[in-house]
Amino acid sequence: MDSVEIREKYISFFESKGHKQIPSAPVVPENDPSVLFNTAGMQPLVPYLMGQPHPYGTRLCDYQKCMRTNDLDEVGDVTHHTFFEMLGNWSLGDYFKKESISWSFELLTKEFNIPVERLAVTVFKGNDIVAADEESANIWKEMGIPEKRIKYLGEDDNWWPNMELTGPCGPDTEIFYFRSEDEIPEEFDPEDDRWVEIWNNVFMQYNHNEDGTFTELPKKNVDTGMGLERITAVLEGVTDNYASSIWTDVIEKIEQISALTYTGNEKAMRIIADHIRSAVFMSADPAGIKPSNTDQGYILRRLIRRAIRYAKKLNIDINSDWEQEIAILIINKYKKYYAELEENKQVVLDVLKNEKIKFNRTLEKGLKEFEKISSKIQDGKMDKDNAFRLYDTFGFPIELTVELAGEMGIEVDEEGFKEKFKAHQELSRAGAKEKFKGGLASTGENETMYHTATHLFNAALKKVVGPDVHQKGSNITAERMRFDFTCDHKLTDEEKKQAEELVNKWIDEGLTVVKTEMNKEDAVKSGAECMFIEKYPDRVTVYTIGDVSAELCGGPHVENTSKLPHIKIKKEEAVSAGVRRIKAVFVEQ
Ligand code: SER
Repeated sequence: MDSVEIREKYISFFESKGHKQIPSAPVVPENDPSVLFNTAGMQPLVPYLMGQPHPYGTRLCDYQKCMRTNDLDEVGDVTHHTFFEMLGNWSLGDYFKKESISWSFELLTKEFNIPVERLAVTVFKGNDIVAADEESANIWKEMGIPEKRIKYLGEDDNWWPNMELTGPCGPDTEIFYFRSEDEIPEEFDPEDDRWVEIWNNVFMQYNHNEDGTFTELPKKNVDTGMGLERITAVLEGVTDNYASSIWTDVIEKIEQISALTYTGNEKAMRIIADHIRSAVFMSADPAGIKPSNTDQGYILRRLIRRAIRYAKKLNIDINSDWEQEIAILIINKYKKYYAELEENKQVVLDVLKNEKIKFNRTLEKGLKEFEKISSKIQDGKMDKDNAFRLYDTFGFPIELTVELAGEMGIEVDEEGFKEKFKAHQELSRAGAKEKFKGGLASTGENETMYHTATHLFNAALKKVVGPDVHQKGSNITAERMRFDFTCDHKLTDEEKKQAEELVNKWIDEGLTVVKTEMNKEDAVKSGAECMFIEKYPDRVTVYTIGDVSAELCGGPHVENTSKLPHIKIKKEEAVSAGVRRIKAVFVEQ
């Protein structure tokens, strides 16, 4: 069964159980600046898991674009990816454990034809706060999973997202598949890596309150996630994810371009395949990510550069159109599921080409720095600080430094470098964890107020600059709002002042903010502002503010503009041709 069939079967199975397919959200969270990327299918659904009604109803399913970049440097082995897709189904206060588990079982055994003997599960074993999840264990037994194939694990394994975070949470049950040809052991051992986890069903049963207590949620949710890459490899019987139907054509393309075989060059080819695919999805994303030195842009830059380095290792002529060819293949493969790939094809190809040109220049600078460092070395040893500097500032991977140093008879303190590198990674992991934490926490008061302010600015700029002003993006933190919009010129001081005054006037007027659900068509007809019309479901929510603004939006917003302090534009700048950006902050009144 290939990935095309798996995707289709998953969606149609859940549709047959009353679920509505929702479109994938952008890979960069739309209204959540605290996370760089969606790392799980449930992330864009957080507001709905917290209780906001979803316009599609209470049973949802989808495939969601996700990125996990904590393990970027581990890509190259048989399992790691940066970009991946997550299949998921949700119950928003609708069905719970019984249906969720029995449908998972039915899909796996009937649609995907997995023999029951190859399945095993884990459930939450309980702790001093919450009891063991016997309910799930019993449902699995009823399904025919023998007791020896059901293991009880603690909160590190069977609680989502984790016990420390506040907000909706609960026990999960993870489903494992025995992927080896060996005889299947009667007793399931989650530590035995012949058993691979394929699906996670989270039962959001509790709210973890600020005061540390756990209370039962009035509406219980189900959140499940199954990585498409992994399930495809499993069902196709390959242990190397990159040997599955998701990758074979991409790998063949790289073989053809390099005139080398995958066997013997696996690591380099996997890295090129994975990183170019991620770069394609990132640069085609509605968030409009461009290579840069911060946040998502920095990840994009590293991915492209790492792909280039490995292409060099395969002796691919870097100045040829090798990366364009791979990108075009990927675009054609996925455009059926993600229309933005076709729409932004040229953008993607330009991003790749321009970054390649830039990297070639930096590489030259790095080589100069390398020469400078090595010319000063007396004892034949390069210390960890210089090796790390080459990595950190010039993007030299340690292998490259070791290789170049080796040619000059210089030894590199690799151990020291690794320690430094690890400390650095732990720092960024901690950072990433913080960011994820932020993503799950409820939207704060400040963010909500800034969110309403972006709607006001959108309306004010239309009045001041002209009706061609449309939102191109926004990014909100507790400290400020950022708003991107179409405009063919730098705002004059007068325009900035007028827009600001108008927004502050509306704030003073205390306009009511009203949320209405309606059909998409009616919303568009009514003239409501909307950023990506095709991304919205048939039923949408529209926020109107007095009679000055109406926008399709998921919220949240304040109920009245009088809740907002006055606001001031701090910065106005260009983002790209025809797109301007303002940053604004609340000021004391
Ligand atoms: N949120 C859970 C996960 O990412 C299930 O979707 O595994």
